[in-house]
Amino acid sequence: MPLITVTVAEIIQESPHVKSFRLVRPDGSPLGRYSPGAHIDVVGPTSITRQYSLCSTPDAEDSFSFAVKREENSRGGSSSLHELQVGDTLQISEPRNLLSIAPEAQENLLIAAGIGITPMLSMARYMDVHDIPFELHYFARCEEEAAFLPLLMDRCPERLHAHLGVTRDEQGDLLRASFVNSAEGAHIYTCGPEGFMDKVVEIAREHFPEESIHLEAFHPKEQPDASQNTEFEVELEGETHIVPADRSIVDVLQENGADVDTSCEEGICGTCIMQVLCGKPDHRDSVLTASEREGGELIAVCVSRSATPKLVLDYY
Ligand code: FES
Repeated sequence: MPLITVTVAEIIQESPHVKSFRLVRPDGSPLGRYSPGAHIDVVGPTSITRQYSLCSTPDAEDSFSFAVKREENSRGGSSSLHELQVGDTLQISEPRNLLSIAPEAQENLLIAAGIGITPMLSMARYMDVHDIPFELHYFARCEEEAAFLPLLMDRCPERLHAHLGVTRDEQGDLLRASFVNSAEGAHIYTCGPEGFMDKVVEIAREHFPEESIHLEAFHPKEQPDASQNTEFEVELEGETHIVPADRSIVDVLQENGADVDTSCEEGICGTCIMQVLCGKPDHRDSVLTASEREGGELIAVCVSRSATPKLVLDYY
């Protein structure tokens, strides 16, 4: 995927550990709109590529903003971005969206924890301006660590439910209460630490159909023991290749000249998704929804494998 060179136009310390970065094109031309919930690849100063949700106003064309939490054990990703200065340049991808607002939703419940607020912020900004019904539940350890809380309190106080310093048990009670009180046909969107999202999804399943639950993962899920992997065939554009037990589908396809883009190579960004024409995928990603997995028509070829002797794929 072609990258775009951008300049850091503004840096804001949003909380003790979170900075936001506003990006513009060096020549001042617009970056364009993006769809709420989208993320970009950011190639940082150490050439490490990471995915970050956009959190600026989706309809504003002049700039993009994203926010980064400085991770304690950062090996150069978040810590190097925190060293950026206004005027520095970065490379980013075009926005990609795996967390779209469901057009059929009667109400939208945005459930964020910690830095998971970032995709929810762009969705809330968009829904606020476009009169789309939503409620935003924001869980954070304390007010000081809740990035963007002052902005949300200012812009949409009647939609915001800030849950600060609540225990895990209290989280469950609050989620249940909000789900019970939501409109019929509501959709749930969640982003945050894996354990938090698991809890949101588990409780949401008690109240909503699977296709109404949407999530944005930041970390890959644990992979099954690779020693159990087996060889299978993959066909693309009439050519069949063997995928050995110790190699990924995308490795084999790229080696044979296929034009498959990748980014995270951990099953979380969605860049490598391909269409399945025949065969049954063994899904190992964190990016497809449960209904997409069950549908069996898409596969993230960087991590997923085949549950049948052969998969026939096409570009997505
Ligand atoms: S490259 Fe990110 S999901 Fe496959």
